[in-house]
Amino acid sequence: MSKHPKLETLRILHYPDPRLRERAAEIRAIDGFLQELAHRMDELMKEAGGVGLAATQVGLGIRFIVMNPTPEPDKVQTYINPVILSREGKVMEEEGCLSLPGLFAKVRRAERVRVRAQLPNGETVEMEADGLAARAWQHEIDHLDGGLFVDRVGPAARIIIRNQLKAFEEDFRQASSHVGTAESDAPPAPASEKTRTRKART
Ligand code: NI
Repeated sequence: MSKHPKLETLRILHYPDPRLRERAAEIRAIDGFLQELAHRMDELMKEAGGVGLAATQVGLGIRFIVMNPTPEPDKVQTYINPVILSREGKVMEEEGCLSLPGLFAKVRRAERVRVRAQLPNGETVEMEADGLAARAWQHEIDHLDGGLFVDRVGPAARIIIRNQLKAFEEDFRQASSHVGTAESDAPPAPASEKTRTRKART
């Protein structure tokens, strides 16, 4: 990135913010900013009780994700230019997203994925992921391509979540019509949601 944003101003964008629909660019140069960004994104992810967060969710169009699919709070993983090399199996599980707080729906995903990414030290790693980690990889890479998990729900679930999506759209319209930026005016996730940390809210 040519110009680095102030990290303390970053907030998690909520659907239907149009920045969530942009395809993120490859990261060409790994610098110290990414380490600071990882720290800030981990902070935002923890505050919101999530297991993953993509840079597009904080308004940065770069291929950068943090995730922590483990129960240990200090085990955050940071990946640069992540890609899925292969997918195996299918599994239907309930999923959520920090950009749609409080909304959950069943989504079909590959059960296992083989992935590749760069680490902040520049090293390239390849690994297998399954369970919650596999789901988080697929969910976060969708974000980097401008996708949201609600794009992937089946027709029956779509009817169930329709009114919740409309409520997000109405909140966004109201926040956007106020002075200031939409994301800083967006309401925080309800307190009851913050305790549901082990779901794939990413
Ligand atoms: Ni998400």
